[in-house]
Formats: sequence, C-alpha cells, structure tokens
Amino acid sequence: MIKIAPSLLAADFSLLGKQIAEAEQAGADWIHLDVMDGHFVPNITFGPPLVSVVRKCTKLPLDVHLMIEEPDRLLTSFRSAGADIITVHQETCPHLYRTIQSIKESGSKAGVALNPSTPVSLIQEIVDEIDLILIMTVEPGFGGQHFISHMLRKIRETRDLIDQSKRDIFLEVDGGIDKQTARSVVDAGATVLVAGTSVFRAKTIATGLSALRSAVTE
Ligand code: DX5
Ligand code: ZN
Repeated sequence: MIKIAPSLLAADFSLLGKQIAEAEQAGADWIHLDVMDGHFVPNITFGPPLVSVVRKCTKLPLDVHLMIEEPDRLLTSFRSAGADIITVHQETCPHLYRTIQSIKESGSKAGVALNPSTPVSLIQEIVDEIDLILIMTVEPGFGGQHFISHMLRKIRETRDLIDQSKRDIFLEVDGGIDKQTARSVVDAGATVLVAGTSVFRAKTIATGLSALRSAVTE
C-alpha cells in the first residue's frame, strides 16, 4: 500500500489546523514537515514549536524532514514536539551511524535523505540501521520545483538495496510529485510519496489527494 504524505510547506499557514484536518479526512497517511535552516538549504521554515502545534491538530504520524546543519543538537526537541519519523540528510551528518542511533534512542523512527547528486552507495553501510530512505527528486529548499526525471534510476537502485537488505524500509520520494510523476516513482519502487503543491494547491485538498491516489492505484 502506497503512503501519501502531504507536505505542509505548500499549505496556507493562516488555515493550518483546518487544512491538516482536511488532508486527514481525505485519506492522507502521514503529515510531512520540512524544517529548513537557511544554511544547509537557502530557505528558512520552522522548528519544534510548530511541530508541537501540528501534533495537536492530527493523530497522523508526523514525518519530519530535517534540512538543517548539525541536526544532532535538535533531535530530542523534535521528538518531544511529536515527531514520529525523523529524517536527516546524509550530507549534514559526518557521523551518520551515531546520529541514527540517537534518533532511535529518542523513540522515533530514523530516516536518511539523499540530495539528487548524492549516490545511494553512501548509505550502503547503514541500511540495516534505518527505517526510511528519502530520495530527493528536486534540490531541497523550495516547493513547486520540477521533478528531476533521472532520479528514477536512483529510486530503482535504492529499491534494490532495500530488497537485498530484506528489511522493511520505507522508500520515500520528495519533490515535484504530482499525478503525472507519481506512477513512475511507484513503478521504480517508491512506497511513500511526499506532495506539497499537488495537494495543497489543487482545487481542493481532497481532489489533489484523490488524483494522486488514483494515479498510483490504477
Ligand atoms: C523541498 C521539500 C519538499 C517540498 C515538496 O525541499 O523537501 O517536501 O515541500 O514540494 P512539492 O511537492 O511542491 O515539490
Ligand atoms: Zn520534504
């Protein structure tokens, strides 16, 4: 079963509680939260206080994507704020094994994200430790960008790595996922689709979600 994780980056923040409720009612599986620090990525978004607010609005798992340098300093804050899954970027973690252990010790599931130019081979040695691999299909930092189609090969390569590990690891994709690209990423082996623009900027959140759902179930 494919999971859909609407990204709040594209939501209307003046209506945040209402939009989360709408997404939940329309069948969203997880809520994806993009944390940006203005260093690792050019943009700045929000931190643990906003995650706590979202925690009060929904029972859905909170999928927290940390696009920040030195994420180790804030792992327990994000967990206390209500994160169920914490994903760090490989590019920000020189001691990735230790960082993953810290996430798991906090009680959260642990994910690792890879920028478009980062090879899958860089996480080969820690695949037995993680719950989720996030393949960025755009450069992180902004919503509404175009899907980089040659990431399909990388998604297939990640699928092979996961299958070889024989572990139950989510393969998440993030960036430019809409009803056109959703099918191809699922065919390549993705199991979790992050979608900002195609959900929150659709005519309604429900129509955006159902277009994605039917693209992957037809
Ligand atoms: C980009 C973020 C994404 C973003 C995706 O850095 O990680 O989660 O919200 O937005 P869309 O779906 O609009 O490409
Ligand atoms: Zn994201």
